[in-house]
Amino acid sequence: MSFYVAGTGSALPEKAVTNDDLAQFLDTSDEWIVTRTGIRRRHILTHERLQDLAIASAKTALEDAGVCGAEVDLIVCATMRADTVTPSLACAVAEAIGSTAPAFDVNAACVGVLYCMEIADAFAASGKAKTVLVVSAEAMSKLVDWSDRSTCVLFGDGAGAMVLRAGEGRLAGELSTRPDTHAIRMPNIEGNSPYNQIEQERIVLSMDGGEVYKFAVNAMGHNIEEVCARAGLSPADIDWYLPHQANVRIIDASLKKFKIDKSKVLLNIDECGNMSATSVMVLLDQYAKKGTFHCGDKLLLVAFGGGLTSGAVIIEWKKK
Ligand code: UT7
Repeated sequence: MSFYVAGTGSALPEKAVTNDDLAQFLDTSDEWIVTRTGIRRRHILTHERLQDLAIASAKTALEDAGVCGAEVDLIVCATMRADTVTPSLACAVAEAIGSTAPAFDVNAACVGVLYCMEIADAFAASGKAKTVLVVSAEAMSKLVDWSDRSTCVLFGDGAGAMVLRAGEGRLAGELSTRPDTHAIRMPNIEGNSPYNQIEQERIVLSMDGGEVYKFAVNAMGHNIEEVCARAGLSPADIDWYLPHQANVRIIDASLKKFKIDKSKVLLNIDECGNMSATSVMVLLDQYAKKGTFHCGDKLLLVAFGGGLTSGAVIIEWKKK
């Protein structure tokens, strides 16, 4: 027994920031950002808190699934940094939906949602949970260095959620790590311990873009092959590809060897940028709401990110 997707939701900050807006204060241009990444705009938090978006998307997903908060057996949230270190974002969601289920956050950078889905699979398979609420939320605008044009133009904020119910739907999953603690790095606050001898690093996200690019292309190709093999499918059998939205060039390069029809590859990077853990979740919800998926369609979600983590999950769409 595994799970199927019973409902989805997503929420983006009100403010959309275009590449031209960024060029007002950065040495960059719409032309550079579009041709190098495919990004045209991204949504950025202003008056909203991250948990407002997480809660809004969770409520939409529950409504979509026809499930109330009290029916949820487990809440897992993918995020690199919630509004508070404690309580977790998952606990804030639990409070808002009236749930007393176990609730915790998972940090696997941009692969967070896939980790949460695999946790949900384990809980469902062991009979510990029949209904799992997976939420993802990232405030990338509060992590990046706004004076570093090579990173801040890439990211956006947002949240998404899905309700998973025990049953048939998940066909296979694959997670892996190629440990690298420097390629993407965001230090934490050292605090004010009088005993601490570790110097505080600058608290902004730094990235070796070229290194991550090479890792991403190889990892996504490997994860697709591996997860298809586990599901007994070939890449051609997949109806829809939902790749992590970091860079259209990475997506094109990693899918090239499988000769995937481009119309099967779903994108929202032009409108949302890279929303880390929540990219694939928002993508899933947006295309579900457009009516793109039909019952029986096979969806492959694939992502890579800080850690360096990567993974893929194949699900069969069960909603009508
Ligand atoms: O979720 C996972 C997180 N990260 C990623 O997936 C990122 C993976 N990496 C990438 O997507 C790409 O490596 C980037 C988009 C980050 C960079 O693209 P690139 O084609 O690898 O460019 P580059 O780093 O080789 O830089 C080329 C030039 C440099 O100038 P010089 O040294 O050739 O004079 C950069 O300084 O482009 C310059 N540059 C910019 N110019 C205008 C870097 N950022 C910008 C910018 N606007 N925003």
